Amino acid sequence: MYPLLGRCISRRSPCACVAVASPPDRRAVKDDSALAAAPAPGPTPAPAGRNGQLAKQGSLTIVRRSSGRARGRPPPGDEALDEVDMATDSLPPVDTPDACDKAALRLRCLLRQLEKGQVAAEVLQQNLMYATRVLEAVFIDETKDAGGCSAEADSPSASPHSRRAAAAGASAAASSSAAAPVQRRRLRTPVWARRLADDDDELSEVQPDAVPHEVREWLASTFTRQLATTRRSTDEKPKFRTVAHAIRAGIFVDRIYRRVNSSALMSFPPEVVKVLKTLDDWSFDIFGLSEAAQQQPVKFLGYDLINRYGIIHKFKVPPATLEAFLSRVEEGYCRYRNPYHNNLHAADVSHAVHYMLCQTGLMNWLTDLEIFATLVAALIHDFEHTGTTNNFHVMSGTDTALLYNDRAVLENHHVSAAFRLMRDDDCNILQSLTRDEFREFRALVIDTVLATDMSFHFQQLKTMRGLLSLAEPTVDKSKALSLVLHCCDIAHPAKRWELHQRWTALLLEEFFRQGDRERDLGLPFSPLCDRNNTLVAESQIGFIEFIVEPSLAVCSDMMETVLGPIMAGCKTDSAAGSIAEEGGPPVEHQTRRYTIKKPWSACLAENKRIWKEQAAKDAEARAQQQQQAEEATATTAEE
Ligand code: CMP
Ligand code: MG
Ligand code: ZN
Repeated sequence: MYPLLGRCISRRSPCACVAVASPPDRRAVKDDSALAAAPAPGPTPAPAGRNGQLAKQGSLTIVRRSSGRARGRPPPGDEALDEVDMATDSLPPVDTPDACDKAALRLRCLLRQLEKGQVAAEVLQQNLMYATRVLEAVFIDETKDAGGCSAEADSPSASPHSRRAAAAGASAAASSSAAAPVQRRRLRTPVWARRLADDDDELSEVQPDAVPHEVREWLASTFTRQLATTRRSTDEKPKFRTVAHAIRAGIFVDRIYRRVNSSALMSFPPEVVKVLKTLDDWSFDIFGLSEAAQQQPVKFLGYDLINRYGIIHKFKVPPATLEAFLSRVEEGYCRYRNPYHNNLHAADVSHAVHYMLCQTGLMNWLTDLEIFATLVAALIHDFEHTGTTNNFHVMSGTDTALLYNDRAVLENHHVSAAFRLMRDDDCNILQSLTRDEFREFRALVIDTVLATDMSFHFQQLKTMRGLLSLAEPTVDKSKALSLVLHCCDIAHPAKRWELHQRWTALLLEEFFRQGDRERDLGLPFSPLCDRNNTLVAESQIGFIEFIVEPSLAVCSDMMETVLGPIMAGCKTDSAAGSIAEEGGPPVEHQTRRYTIKKPWSACLAENKRIWKEQAAKDAEARAQQQQQAEEATATTAEE
């Protein structure tokens, strides 16, 4: 078993995200990531209840979390640091993500040289100056984006001159490593301007003969309903402005000083470490992970993710508490032995959320607390799922339906039961959050998990399209993250065929078991639940065309919209995405649009193609059966 040697994902390097879980013999790393994962040997964890959660003793003491940093130094014997060239003349521009990594490495080298008493004053001065400018660029650059300067450039009435000046300012600043950039950036063309049919995937727009009747019924009963709960006002969320950027710069410095305390971290079997190396792939083999992890994918994946994003350290989550929490979550998922809604699905959705955070660059838009909440929301989003739908709970009048008044019955249970679990001292991963942090975390988890209720689907998409259609879209974090989680929850049809096919078979088996119970209870079959009368291929085509594709399209637009200004400094193709020239006007007038990679598009097309072939074969087989039945009837009549 390997202790998890954490290599944090650097949020200032969205274009070059690194993976984790290195065995202990890989100590000679040349970047700073290996120093940045373990919990700091900081103050003793505070007792549960400090953030306002009712602890067993009922304490409500508010104690702000200490901001004390680990006073770590580079690990002794890390000779790799001695090999770094400390010249400053060929460093990348200060406002590029690469600069952050370079500056961090330089600072670590300086620390090591200072420790050995070897540093030349000039080298010290030049490198500190570079690091200072990198920090300033992080701050000034993004603050400017959020401020009024882009509004002028983006305004339809802005003169060609001012638009050109804004664009030129951006590119000049990006290519200069001298002063901190004072730049004016243009926002890209709003998404709505390129979308012709904004509402064309509303169920009401689906032509009656475009899908079989059963599939239409199922779509109607599952994916529509009036929004029942009052959502928090968008204005209540703190804006992503100066404070967030200042904090980000602080975290950057913080990570430089951290060091690994691997002994405190959970051990990972080598097979799990091996599988986790491909975690950044869209079609990651979650079934393979489950096998390697001896059917504990939530425990290992959950731990790895929370560690990767530096959450263990940042929010002082005791590793043993995290392990206990994840194990209990895993148990909860296995309680009803569901074919589909089990620990594997939780891990699968969490993986997809990780992809969205890391591989699109979305994490750069979020605070650490929001990342923490998003990961936990994904991990618990179907906690203690009963293997039956909300419809079944309502129709059969279960206690849970009674408790939640038939509204988002399962989703309310998932989130409520998970917070109940986190109230246990051994599982309280939130014990070091301040009261304010706890409230924000809780609100975000509740919002995002409740929004996985499929009956909110069309409403959710419509609301997001509406937001994106504004001249200056300001996307609410909670709504954005809800959409991301919802998309990840229905993403298996957008993964490679082998995975999608397996998930579909598991889901249908779960639906059919519900159908068996409905028959026994004398209830009508829920859509897709009658094992003798379900058009599998057709239902999947309908699900892909009317639900999954439109969801991922809106989600992609949303991410490109919010990330455009943030990723403007990222000039080349990268793991996260790229800035591409849009067609149309001459080069100096073109908008540079940030586009994320969409590995799901090809999978969706391929899966749809296969289902269509399957549907044609099924239809042929049904026609043949019908003909045989008619012939048999005719023969009997003749006799
Ligand atoms: P849940 O995971 O709770 O939330 C998303 C829902 O989408 C899921 O439950 C299923 O009810 C539904 N879903 C996911 N995949 C499919 C699919 N391939 N076909 C039909 N429904 C699906
Ligand atoms: Mg669910
Ligand atoms: Zn789910």
